[in-house]
Amino acid sequence: MIKHDVVIVGSGLAGMRAALEVCKELDVAVLSKVYPTRSHSGAAQGGIAASLGNVESDSWEEHMFDTIKGGDYLNDQDAVEEYVKAAPRVIYELERMGCVFSRTADGKIAQRSFGGHSKPRACFSADRTGHAVLHALHEQILKESKSIKIYSEWSMHSLTIEDGQCKGIVVSNIRTGEVEVIQGKAVIFATGGYGRVFKITSNAFASTADGAIAAFDAGLPIEDAEFVQFHPSGLYRQGILFSEAARGEGGYLVNGNGERFMEKYAPSRMELAPRDIVARAEQSEIDAGRGGGGKGPGEGFINLDLRHLGEARIMERLPQIRQLGIDFIGVDCIKDPLPIQPTAHYSMGGIPTDMFGQVIVDSEGTHMPGFFAAGECACVSVHGGNRLGTNSLLEAVVFGERAGKAALEYARKTGFEKINESHQKTKVLKVMEEVYQSDGTESYNDIRNEMKEIMMANCGVFRDEDRLKECVDTLQKLQVRFKKGKVTDKGKLFNTEIYEILELSNMLKMAEIISTAALNRKESRGGHFRTDHDKRDDENFLKHSMLSKSEDNSIDIKYKPVVITKYQPKERTY
Ligand code: FUM
Repeated sequence: MIKHDVVIVGSGLAGMRAALEVCKELDVAVLSKVYPTRSHSGAAQGGIAASLGNVESDSWEEHMFDTIKGGDYLNDQDAVEEYVKAAPRVIYELERMGCVFSRTADGKIAQRSFGGHSKPRACFSADRTGHAVLHALHEQILKESKSIKIYSEWSMHSLTIEDGQCKGIVVSNIRTGEVEVIQGKAVIFATGGYGRVFKITSNAFASTADGAIAAFDAGLPIEDAEFVQFHPSGLYRQGILFSEAARGEGGYLVNGNGERFMEKYAPSRMELAPRDIVARAEQSEIDAGRGGGGKGPGEGFINLDLRHLGEARIMERLPQIRQLGIDFIGVDCIKDPLPIQPTAHYSMGGIPTDMFGQVIVDSEGTHMPGFFAAGECACVSVHGGNRLGTNSLLEAVVFGERAGKAALEYARKTGFEKINESHQKTKVLKVMEEVYQSDGTESYNDIRNEMKEIMMANCGVFRDEDRLKECVDTLQKLQVRFKKGKVTDKGKLFNTEIYEILELSNMLKMAEIISTAALNRKESRGGHFRTDHDKRDDENFLKHSMLSKSEDNSIDIKYKPVVITKYQPKERTY
C-alpha cells in the first residue's frame, strides 16, 4: 500500500495550489489522469477576476454583487465575500510565482471586460490565461519535488470511507493497469467537471465526473447538479472554446440575417450579458431559424464577428482564438466571422463543501472527516445558478489554497488509521474485471453517443418536463445496456479502452443525476431554464439541491438553504 500524509486527486489549478500549501509541512501526492500541464484549467482562456481597479475604479463589494446577481441569487454569500476579498492578493501572488500577465501602457496588470462584470476585472495573459497560471503553478510544484510526488497518468477509482472517515483512495496506473490503495490522512479532490456528458462541449476529454461519482458512490451528496453552464461561443458542431475575451475586446454576435440580436435580449449589456442569458439568446435565434447555415434540429449557428477589431488588436489580445479558427475550420477571424453555438462549459454544482474546502454530507453542514474538495468538482457555492466568466480560475486558486490549508491542519493532528486494504482493492478489481470480461452485444461507443445526444437535446440550454422525463428514462436504459457491452482490447498495458469504459460508467450516472435534479427544479434560474416554468420561484426554489444514492440505488433528493448576507434576491435584468 502506498502512503502519503495528504493525497490530492487532480493536477489543475485547484490541485496544484492545494499541494503548494500542504507541502509546507507534510508529504503530499498529486494524482492525475494526465500530465499536470495538460489539465483542463489550461483551457480557460480569457482571464481571472479580481477587483484590482487598474483600468477603472473597482471594489470587492462590486465584484461580490456582480457575482451574486450573475448567479441568480443561489450563491452562498458568506463564501462569495471571502472569495472576492481574496482575489487581489491571489493575483499578486501568482504574478510573483512567475505568471506573465498582459500589461496596461503604464505597466500595471491589464484588465478587460467580461460578461456580467460591471467593471473591467479580468486579469489576463492574452487569451491563454489558464495556460499561463497552470504553468506558473507547475513550476512551483517542480521546485517542491522533495515533498510533492506526482503520479501522472494514474486513474482514481474509488474513495475509501471507513468508520465514518475518509482514509484514502483506490487507484490504478494507466500504464500497467495495476490497482493500488493510496492511504492518506486527508484526501483532496480537485478532479474538475463533467462537461463530457454533453455532445457539444468545450471540456477536455478528461472531464468525466470521476470525482463527483466516487463521492456519490461512497454515499455523499452532489449539490446543484442541474446547473450546467453553456458558454455562448463554442466552435459550431465541435464545441471548442472561443474565449469570451473576444466579446470583452468588443466582438459582435450576429445572426444569419446580419443583426446584432443581443439588443433584444440584454439591451444594456449586449454581448457582455452573463453567459446564461447570451447562450439562451443565441439558441432562441437559432431555434427561430435565424441562425447562419442550415435550418432544422442540430443546424444553425451564430457569427462571432471580430473583423472591426483589426489585425493588430486580434494578434495582441486574441492570438489563440485566431489560430484555433485557422487550424480547425480554416477561418481567419481577421477576415471572416467565426461560426459558434452554445457549448457545455462548466459545472456550477459538485461535491458540497464549506468555505474551507471541507466536504459536507448533509443539509445541516456535517463534515466528512478527512475529505476535502476544491475547484470545479466542488460546490462551495460561490457561483450559484450561473458562474461569471473569469470567476472559475479565481475559484480554483482561492479554494485550492483553502482546501490545502484545511487538509494540512487536519492531517497534522491525525495518524494513519487502520484501513481494510484488501476489501477496498477487491471491490475495484471486481469492477475492472467485469469490464475486461465484458463480451455482450452492445457497443460502448453507441451508448456514449446516445447519452451525449439526449443530454444535449433534452437537458441543454432549454428544458421542460417531458424532455427531462424522456432524458432520465433513456439514461436508465443506457445504464442497463452498459451492462451488456463488449470490450475489444483485453490487454493490461496502456489499455485506454478500459479507462474510457469506466469513464462512461461515471458519465452515465452523472447524466442521470443532472437530469433528475433538473426535472425536480420546477423553475428557471441561472443556467437552468425550464420553458414550462419560465420564471424564478424564490418561494419554492431558493435552495440548493442535494442528490445522493438511496438504499435501493435510486436517487434521493433533498434541499439545503442558501446563505444570504448582504444582498436580498431581486429581479435580474441587464
Ligand atoms: O471564455 C473564456 O475565456 C472562459 C473563461 C471562463 O470560463 O472563466
